[in-house]
Amino acid sequence: MTLILGIETSCDETAAAVVEDGRSIRSSVVSSQVDLHERFGGVVPEIASRAHAELVNPVIADALVEAGVDFRDLDAVAACHGPGLAGALLVGVSAAKALGLVLAVPYVGVNHLEAHLHAAWLQDPEVELPLAVLLASGGHTMVVVVEADARYRLLGETVDDAAGEAFDKVARFCGLGYPGGPVIDRLATQGDPRAIAFPRPMLTDGFDFSFSGLKTAVLNHVRRHPETDVRDLAASFQEAVVDVLVHKLLGAADGAGAPTLVIGGGVAANTSLRARALEAGTETGRRVLLPGLELCTDNAAMIAATAWWRLRSDGPTPLSAGADPSLRLPTSE
Ligand code: KG4
Ligand code: ZN
Repeated sequence: MTLILGIETSCDETAAAVVEDGRSIRSSVVSSQVDLHERFGGVVPEIASRAHAELVNPVIADALVEAGVDFRDLDAVAACHGPGLAGALLVGVSAAKALGLVLAVPYVGVNHLEAHLHAAWLQDPEVELPLAVLLASGGHTMVVVVEADARYRLLGETVDDAAGEAFDKVARFCGLGYPGGPVIDRLATQGDPRAIAFPRPMLTDGFDFSFSGLKTAVLNHVRRHPETDVRDLAASFQEAVVDVLVHKLLGAADGAGAPTLVIGGGVAANTSLRARALEAGTETGRRVLLPGLELCTDNAAMIAATAWWRLRSDGPTPLSAGADPSLRLPTSE
């Protein structure tokens, strides 16, 4: 049995988790800083790093207690080393390296995007490859094919705003608070998705995404029609985003002959996206892997699980390696 402690501090969640053999979650603790950033309408990097520094040790302690293990039981310590906010990443990376040194166990640096892919995979580690994966969060939106040799092929990504960013910006403009995704999701359940015909940007145009124009269309609509029911607005905007996301995911699965559809990242918590992904699976005879909500948004279980695979394939990460705020997904081309 291999026990790995994972640490995640790339953005505004301080998280630690203990995962056994890359698949069994013994504990997963997430301390959100949403309250600290809410009044600024987005994440303030300096506040995030300071909060991580204060929270990281208590969160690690909680994760060990919840898992019923001691520091001495750990076989490796992993941290997300990018992409993310530089100062925030450094807190987790430094904590993991220090623990690795003190405990004389390997340190493993984990790519945040790869971890989101693994979060979906944690649902069923034996799933048949290739997988067509939609990864949509506050910082990234991409379609990736996980090949039979567990390599990643990036088919396309956003050329401007990420899907979650569009949710956050629309919500901020409408005075709905931060983060915007969950609020819009909730309002949309009471609205009419056909009330306003928003554009579906780049729908049939390859695998790249663009959400900046859609966001502007929503803002222009509100300026012109301030009387619009916010529930209809939320539902119509969300429908446009989800249409594009599901269309590209299915296109990727068709192209790759993938029997399984997977969604990951914070936007994968969206009620409508989940329902539509399931529908698409039923219609096309494909399996759909939907990670639990707590595995969609940032967490450290996905870091510890990915570390187990990386440790087996690449060995420990040298302590001389730092954090990389603009780290890319390791792809096969
Ligand atoms: O993966 P994540 O926790 O952090 C990043 O790596 O970015 O994703 C956060 C993003 C935010 O933009 C948030 O608004 C969005 O995910 N999000 C949602 C929902 N829950 C979170 N978007 C749409 N619907 C949701 N239910
Ligand atoms: Zn994330």
